[in-house]
Amino acid sequence: PETITVQELANRMAEKGADLVKSLFKMGMPVTVTQTIDQDTAELMVTEFGHNIVRVSDSDIDIQTDTVDDAVESLLPRPPVVTIMGHVDHGKTSLLDALRGTDVVAGEAGGITQHIGAYQVTQKDKSKITFLDTPGHEAFTEMRQRGANVTDIVILVVAADDGLMPQTIEAISHTKAAGVPMIVAINKIDKHDANAQKVRERLLEHDIQVEEMGGETQDVEVSALKKLGLDDLIEKIQLQAELLELRANPDRSAEGTVIEAKLDKGRGPVATVLVSRGTLRVGDIFVCGAESGKVRALIDDKGRQVKEAGPSVPVEVLGLSGVPMAGDPLQVVETEARAREVAAYRASVIQNKRTTTAPASLETMFSALK
Ligand code: GTP
Ligand code: MG
Repeated sequence: PETITVQELANRMAEKGADLVKSLFKMGMPVTVTQTIDQDTAELMVTEFGHNIVRVSDSDIDIQTDTVDDAVESLLPRPPVVTIMGHVDHGKTSLLDALRGTDVVAGEAGGITQHIGAYQVTQKDKSKITFLDTPGHEAFTEMRQRGANVTDIVILVVAADDGLMPQTIEAISHTKAAGVPMIVAINKIDKHDANAQKVRERLLEHDIQVEEMGGETQDVEVSALKKLGLDDLIEKIQLQAELLELRANPDRSAEGTVIEAKLDKGRGPVATVLVSRGTLRVGDIFVCGAESGKVRALIDDKGRQVKEAGPSVPVEVLGLSGVPMAGDPLQVVETEARAREVAAYRASVIQNKRTTTAPASLETMFSALK
């Protein structure tokens, strides 16, 4: 029988472990986050928290990710996936660039990094952090609505001279809705009119109580321009990641999410995929949204061809039948026939959606196909 720890289940639903413990306690099950629960209880919790239970079965036409089916023993630590959000001009891109500058591997590769929408930074202690190039709040929300919860940690950038602005507040509410832990990076502290304390105070109005104010949200003063506080920020990301106990099974057929996709003149359809579990390899047959394909090449964020990509690793995937959408799941399957069947089915569902004027529920779509 399948079991799962409370924390792991919480991770998969992007909920807080403590909230699950609370719910389980109410149901008469006093457990801690590190204890395991059985599949029935896990499924009950999934429903309780408003998520969908998805089972994979060969007889299903479609296949979906996020099934509760990796044995606990198969799970190994994986790097955290971090998204940087904040108001216009508060320094998101500058901070990403500065953090990228701390990459010990990028230096070895000659410092030439290409833009693939996501990249991994290796620290001196060899640990890795995956950063998603700020997708904008809309993309973040849209991907989440499509079931693609790829972000483990949000870094909220607030410029210390400008303070809390409309998009800062928007980012706070999106992060809360996603149930993702936040680290506040108070940027531009090199400026003469910087006022970090005022930022902390204003955050209280939005129920964000940072450590300095006696709360639990980590905050750190940085200057992306002068490269101040970066080590501190990285340390806090690692600390937060440790608390989340992020793990995935690298030893299974790969699943991932499209971060961005485009039609490249020379290379054809190209998708940047963040692997969520399993290991994606050259030659793998896959379904990706309503597209299918066979991995012709994998290119990492340093522009190097690689043979495989494991959990939390972002790679460019070549060999797609067409251009998928951001947020689309990628799943490795056994045969090309199966890949085409699933892709064709999905394409028909999308087509149906476009031609029906009435809002179609999944049920009506199914009956329409019978
Ligand atoms: P958008 O992508 O347009 O939303 O902006 P952003 O949040 O990515 O900000 P960006 O990194 O482009 O920085 C905006 C401006 O602030 C640039 O002129 C940066 O040079 C400047 N800037 C960023 N970080 C710092 C900092 O730590 N100190 C100072 N003094 N200026 C900074
Ligand atoms: Mg920017």
